[in-house]
Amino acid sequence: MKKDSDEFIIRNANENDIPEVMEVNMRSLPENYWYGFYKFVLDRWGDIFLVAELNRKIIGYIMNRIEDTRDPVLYGKENELSNNKEKKKGFDDIMSSLKNVFSDSHKVGHVISIAVLQEYRKKGIGTALLKEAISKMKSLYNTEAVYLEVRVTNYDAISLYKKMGFEEVRIIKEYYRDGEDAYVMVKKL
Ligand code: ACO
Ligand code: ZN
Repeated sequence: MKKDSDEFIIRNANENDIPEVMEVNMRSLPENYWYGFYKFVLDRWGDIFLVAELNRKIIGYIMNRIEDTRDPVLYGKENELSNNKEKKKGFDDIMSSLKNVFSDSHKVGHVISIAVLQEYRKKGIGTALLKEAISKMKSLYNTEAVYLEVRVTNYDAISLYKKMGFEEVRIIKEYYRDGEDAYVMVKKL
């Protein structure tokens, strides 16, 4: 029988949640942060820092920040991985970088970290967290796009992001401490 108490809720995080969020993070990812980092992100962007709660227990979180960027890849205008475009070299490359320096900056959301405890995965909680976060980044900050970095072998996460409309737009070589590469993925809003 399905009781009301079996249903998770998505809500904004508060300072008391940080230890539990840190616990979910440490059990789920090798990228861990100290208390002060969570506190800083919460103080600055608490309106887009969300947790998933089930029976008063935190089972997932998504932590985001808002950034200004002149990098057309990050605001969804260019894709370095699309094969119908030859990679720019030399002079063109320099000119294109110069153009970026003088162009306007664009407001984007950056998913710093998302995780759901192992035993609660594949139930739509990750999707719910990401959906709500994207919607808030758009409505509260008027962001043009949302981007994130993900390990190139993190198939579960990549598949979720693709389903949500993110696209791989760049590879960052040896982005992670253990030497693994990252995809940058972007969703235009
Ligand atoms: N029944 C069966 N399957 C379901 C159901 C359901 N009721 N609901 C959703 N699913 C499926 C989805 O369709 C999806 O399927 P897919 O494998 O085809 O993509 C899959 O379950 C995952 O979707 P969700 O359930 O919404 O996501 P989940 O709650 O499992 O969380 C997450 C995804 C956060 C990536 C999780 O796997 C996780 O915590 N991984 C470890 C941490 C991690 O890698 N985080 C991302 C790092 S990158 C970054 O943070 C920017
Ligand atoms: Zn990042």
